[in-house]
Amino acid sequence: MQVSIRDLTKIFKERRRETVAVDHFSLEVKSGQLVTLLGSSGCGKTTILRMIAGFESPSSGSIFISGKEMNGLPPNKRPVAMVFQSYALFPHMSVFENVAFGLRVRNVPRKELRERVEKILQKVGLNGKEKRGPNQLSGGEQQRVALARALVVNPEVLLCDEPFSNIDQSLRIKMREEIKRLQKELGLTILFVTHDQEEAFYLSDKIVLIDSGKIIQEGTPKEFYENPKTEFVKDFLGGLKKVNGELVRVVALA
Ligand SMILES: Nc1ncnc2c1ncn2[C@@H]1O[C@H](COP(=O)(O)OP(=O)(O)O)[C@@H](O)[C@H]1O
Ligand SMILES: [Mg+2]
Repeated sequence: MQVSIRDLTKIFKERRRETVAVDHFSLEVKSGQLVTLLGSSGCGKTTILRMIAGFESPSSGSIFISGKEMNGLPPNKRPVAMVFQSYALFPHMSVFENVAFGLRVRNVPRKELRERVEKILQKVGLNGKEKRGPNQLSGGEQQRVALARALVVNPEVLLCDEPFSNIDQSLRIKMREEIKRLQKELGLTILFVTHDQEEAFYLSDKIVLIDSGKIIQEGTPKEFYENPKTEFVKDFLGGLKKVNGELVRVVALA
């Protein structure tokens, strides 16, 4: 298993209040898979990703990546990279420098750095825009920079926290196609967080539906369609309709 999460729990303690954000959560992700954590706001998705990335420490439970236990390792020692909803680009740096950042802090030699940055910018379709600043880019382009910045360090696992929720609908659909293409082309293992069931169904090899920090159901999109286990699952997927018929042709949007 590429990612193995065992009995992960996170309790936030603030003065007299305790919040159980993640409640005995276990998950296995195979190499090359895209798994989405799907659930409404506040169900614990971001907290799970932050514990995998090392920004937050678990109250109990453990996380293994490629068989190696992550507990206690600082974020920069973990073989993961994260893409945020807010992009979190460095505003005063060019596209090139934003993407190069992770390689500079790892002291990658200049020639190799240039080659790796150029290669990944090509992959996400941003070649020619190296010198621009983030404020000279559209929302979609900024998110591509964020994606390139994460991918350039060759993470074993890519963590995406609702990366497309700030961009408009038509572009969002394009970015979904793009992330699927990159997953296949680069053999990426991706943990993708979303509250959008349509996005989860389009992207996922496996969907993990979460409520109050717990797994309600997990399976392929097909398994969810065919066998929603509880009323909660049916309700949550309520926006999706099953259509009977035959698929004749797929037309690309945009
Ligand atoms: N640093 C924190 N301190 C206290 N409570 C937190 C903190 N971070 C998250 N929470 C709480 O944990 C729960 C899960 O939050 P989060 O993981 O951000 O959910 P999601 O990403 O699914 O919207 C929420 O109830 C949230 O208020
Ligand atoms: Mg969140």
